[in-house]
Amino acid sequence: MRLVVLGAGGLGSVIGGYLAEAGVDVTLICRQAHADAINENGLSISGLRGEHLVNKNITACATADEAEGHFDYMMLAVKSKDTHTALAGAASLIDRVDTFFSVQNNIVKEGQLADWCGDASKVMGASTIEGGYLVAPGEVNNHMTVDCTAYFGELDGTISPRVEAIVEVFNKGGLPTKAVTYIQQVLWEKLTQIANASTFAVSTLVGNTELDFVHGLLVREGAEHYVAIARELLSVYTAQGYEPQNFYAPISRLKQIYAIQDDNEAVETMLGMGKQLQDRGYKGTTSMHDDVLRGRKTEADDIIKPFIKKAAELGLEVPTITACYRIIKVLDAYLK
Ligand SMILES: NC(=O)c1ccc[n+]([C@@H]2O[C@H](COP(=O)([O-])OP(=O)(O)OC[C@H]3O[C@@H](n4cnc5c(N)ncnc54)[C@H](OP(=O)(O)O)[C@@H]3O)[C@@H](O)[C@H]2O)c1
Repeated sequence: MRLVVLGAGGLGSVIGGYLAEAGVDVTLICRQAHADAINENGLSISGLRGEHLVNKNITACATADEAEGHFDYMMLAVKSKDTHTALAGAASLIDRVDTFFSVQNNIVKEGQLADWCGDASKVMGASTIEGGYLVAPGEVNNHMTVDCTAYFGELDGTISPRVEAIVEVFNKGGLPTKAVTYIQQVLWEKLTQIANASTFAVSTLVGNTELDFVHGLLVREGAEHYVAIARELLSVYTAQGYEPQNFYAPISRLKQIYAIQDDNEAVETMLGMGKQLQDRGYKGTTSMHDDVLRGRKTEADDIIKPFIKKAAELGLEVPTITACYRIIKVLDAYLK
């Protein structure tokens, strides 16, 4: 199997590296310094799966035109704000790749890929919570995983041989992954989960660079804010006919919050989660929070705005999310 990753930063390099270890022939398209370091010394992955130096089955380059030959799959892994530019620069891959998928956190990515390649049948659905960030050129850290860390499925609700084949290599690479007939639901629930955590984190924590996600949940008003955001997001998610499943358990708490009618009880649950995470020494920040800390534009338009749009379509009120979105957009206006 041959895989090309378009936009290998944190996540794309972590996944690409593990798949190379599983025997997939991987080409990473990434920034020049990262490509040079990988081609010279291999890709170093540290973090929760130990130390890996990947120097077989992996090559890196800075443009799509330099990626050689034909590929079974292309995995899109740039931040959403860079999708348009990255795809525009990758036209030479359209006829050299059989199947396109994206691991980005948004629900427009499959449509964007279909529009770009001109053939919706070449696009399949994908979702992951696996976490990775770029430490330095040639070095990434794998900081997050859960019991089932990725899902693949055809957008028409079927499981095809190409879905099964990619699921098999993800599992072989140590990334627990499932083929599913309900990928659209996984995509919406993942967006609900990530929108909940990101909206909460950026609207409460960015004023103090020492704070991480757990700090927010240790304060009652923080937990109340988290639950208020969750309630609105869940109203949009469930109004589409979906029931929360906690696909990314144990990190996801959507199912519990949905099941608890009483707001106080839901707040206590989140305070409890904060305490549990603190006891385990968890010190994570969400990707959108990281973007703000690093002075980078956020993915707010792709992660939060879809809920505001969908709520308007469905006649639902989402005042907390709307206020947070406005606050984040003010920050965003001054980020690069
Ligand atoms: N990281 C996670 O833990 C995680 C987990 C699940 C989902 N996701 C989603 O996955 C996507 C990627 O996240 P990430 O954290 O991996 O982002 P990232 O670390 O910023 O990686 C994207 C990389 O692509 C590079 N890039 C941008 N345009 C390019 C181009 N035209 N050609 C070559 N390289 C290009 C970026 O370089 P510059 O920075 O120099 O622009 C960056 O190094 C996002 O949608 C995110 O929400 C991330």
